[in-house]
Amino acid sequence: MSLQLGDVAPDFTADTTHGAISFHQWKGDAWAVLFSHPKDFTPVCTTELGAAAKLKPEFDKRNVKIIGLSVDSVPSHVQWEGDIKDVTGQQVNFPMIGDADRKVSLLYGMIHPNASETMTVRSVYVIGPDHKLKLTLTYPASTGRNFDEILRVVDSLQLTAKFQVSTPADWKDGQDVIIVPAVSDEDARKKFPKGFVAKKPYLRVTPQPNK
Ligand code: BEZ
Repeated sequence: MSLQLGDVAPDFTADTTHGAISFHQWKGDAWAVLFSHPKDFTPVCTTELGAAAKLKPEFDKRNVKIIGLSVDSVPSHVQWEGDIKDVTGQQVNFPMIGDADRKVSLLYGMIHPNASETMTVRSVYVIGPDHKLKLTLTYPASTGRNFDEILRVVDSLQLTAKFQVSTPADWKDGQDVIIVPAVSDEDARKKFPKGFVAKKPYLRVTPQPNK
């Protein structure tokens, strides 16, 4: 069965462009985003890695370590990183896992045989400080991911881990949030001193509590 939200992200050892790692030890008690690329020297992946490198400072601010994977060797990744710098202007500033034997790809179910027998799909795993999966995304090889969206999700996950709130459609950091239905109106008045608006009895909106 495929990995599901709440599962512990499987631990593994691997060679990366930043040296050998033991995944859980490398991650420590930070958040992590692990994302796969189908193959080195491919066009969409080249643009994605540039986009991720550009946003690395934003992930750092949120205590999120980012790490990529492709089913090629570390020397191949290092060579490809030169092209990524040429094309996007970005030096890849996070580790890339060499997974030529597909050990990690298979462990995480990143290879979907009906899409390709050999290449990974574009998987994203957001992993919490407790090593548990908080979000998974699966994109086909033909569609590049939006790394601003991954940051937005991290903002929501980190906020909802601390407060009894959820975030509405298209929410961005700083906007109003929803008080979870399990909190009574009486408790909501205590927990959310900025107050709330009940658009429906089950839809109560309050300013973001940590802003
Ligand atoms: C790409 O990155 O453009 C790509 C990778 C694998 C298959 C198809 C496209």
